Amino acid sequence: MTNNLNIIILAAGKGTRMKSEKLKVLHPLAGKAIIDHVLDTAKLLNPNKIIMVYGHQGEQLKKYLEHENVVWVEQNNPQGTGHAVQLAAPFVDKNSSVLILVGDAPLIEFDDLQKLTQYKQAVLTAEMQNPFGYGRIIKNSENQIEAIVEEKDASQQQKQISEINSGIILAESENLQSWIQQIDNNNAQGEYYLTDVIGLGFKNNQPFSAVTVRDNRSIKGINDRVQLSECETILQTKYRKHLMLSGVSMPHPKTVEIRGQLTCGQDIEIDTGVILEGNNEIADNVSIGAYSIIKNCKLGKNTRIAPHSMLENVITKGDCDIGPFARLRPGTVIGEKAKVGNFVETKKTTIGYNSKASHLTYLGDSEIGDNVNIGAGTITCNYDGVNKFKTIIEDDVFIGSDTQLVAPVTVGKGATIGAGTTLTKNAESGKLTLSRARQKTIDGWQKPKKQ
Ligand code: UD1
Ligand code: CA
Repeated sequence: MTNNLNIIILAAGKGTRMKSEKLKVLHPLAGKAIIDHVLDTAKLLNPNKIIMVYGHQGEQLKKYLEHENVVWVEQNNPQGTGHAVQLAAPFVDKNSSVLILVGDAPLIEFDDLQKLTQYKQAVLTAEMQNPFGYGRIIKNSENQIEAIVEEKDASQQQKQISEINSGIILAESENLQSWIQQIDNNNAQGEYYLTDVIGLGFKNNQPFSAVTVRDNRSIKGINDRVQLSECETILQTKYRKHLMLSGVSMPHPKTVEIRGQLTCGQDIEIDTGVILEGNNEIADNVSIGAYSIIKNCKLGKNTRIAPHSMLENVITKGDCDIGPFARLRPGTVIGEKAKVGNFVETKKTTIGYNSKASHLTYLGDSEIGDNVNIGAGTITCNYDGVNKFKTIIEDDVFIGSDTQLVAPVTVGKGATIGAGTTLTKNAESGKLTLSRARQKTIDGWQKPKKQ
C-alpha cells in the first residue's frame, strides 16, 4: 500500500471496429464519454498523477479533456500495451504505486480498484466461463502467478484455464520502470505485451497477486457499437435499480434512461420512456409522465409533469402542473400552484404563484407575477430580429386569448387585456386595455349570387 498513487490510462487504440470518425473513447455512454467513466473512477482513488497514453486521432481526446489535470503521452505508432507503458514509464513518480487502466473498459468499479491498490503488486483477474480472447493467468503449485499468456500464444492446455487478465494491473514504480524495458515482441502478435511484466515479477521473486473482480461485467471492454450498447444496458440497469431502491417507482424501468447525475427524494413516479439527462434534482412526490425528457432541472416537491413534456434548465418551486406537451426551455422558473399546459413554450421566464398558461402560448424573456391568467394563443413578441426584449406581467393580470405582447412592454397589476389585442404600449394597472377593430354588422347585406 502506498500514499503515492500514479495511474496510467491506455487509450491509444485505433477503435477501427466502431466505424466512426469519432475517437472510440469519446462515444457517449450513459450521458458522458466512455473515457469520462474511466477518468471519474480513477479520480475517486485520489491519485497524485494521471498519465494518459493517446495515439490515433488523439487531438480529439486532448481537446475533449483539456480541462483535466493529466499528463499526456503520445504513442503514435502503437506496438502493444507494453510499448504504451514503456512510453509512459518515464513520467511515473519515484516510489509510487502505478495502476494501469484501459480507456475502453468504462464499467470498472471503484471498489475493485481500491482493493487492488491495497497490494504491493497485483493483477485484477476474473473467472470466465468462456475465457476465449483473454490473457490466461498461469499459476504455480503455490498459487503464485508465474506468467500471463495471451490467447494467441497459449498452448491447448493453457487455453483451458478460466482465470483471465482483466488488463488492469498494479506495480511498484521502480520495478515497472525496470521490467518494462526488458520485455520483447517475440510473440504471436509481434507486440510488446505489458503482461510480460508479470512474468518478470515472478522471476525476480516479486510475484504479482491475483485479485478477483467482484462482478465480471465491470471489466467489459468496448470494441464496437454492439458492446457499447451492452455497456449502456448494464449501466442503466444499475442506475435504475439504485433509484428504485431509494424510493422511485418505475412501472417500466427498462424504458427509462438515466444520462447523468440524479439526486432524488422519495415517492417519485417516473413513467414509461422518460429520459433524464445531465444533472437533475428531483424532490419528493414528483411525477414525470410518459415520454418526457428532463435535462438539468430542479423539480420541487409535488411537481407533476404530464406526458410528452420537455424541460431543460428549469426550476419548479413545488406543487405545480406541467404539460402534457409542454416545452420549457432554459431559464424557466415555475412557481407553486402554477400551471403550464399543452403546447406552451417558455424561455427565460418566471411564472409566479398560482399563475396559469394553459394552452398554446409562447412566453419568452418574461416575468409573470402571481395569480395571472394567460389566455390561449398568447405570444410574447420578444425579438425584433436583432435584439431581445422583456415582457413584464404584474400580479392579478388577465390576458385574453390571442394576445401579442410586443416587448419591451409591461402589463400593470390587475389589468385585463382584451382578447385579440396587439399590445405595443404598457397597459395600465386595474384597467381594461384592448386593441381591436370594432365589430359591426351590415344590415340588408345580400349574399352574392352565382353568375
Ligand atoms: C489485453 C491484455 C490481455 C487481457 C485483455 C483484457 C496485453 C498484452 N493483453 O489484451 O491479457 O486479457 O487486455 O481486455 O496487455 N493500447 C494502447 N496502445 C497499444 C495497444 C493497446 O494504448 O499499443 C490500449 C488500447 O487502446 C486498449 C488497451 O490498451 O484500451 C488494451 O489493448 P488491447 O489491444 O485491446 O489488448 P488485448 O489484446 O485485448
Ligand atoms: Ca481488448
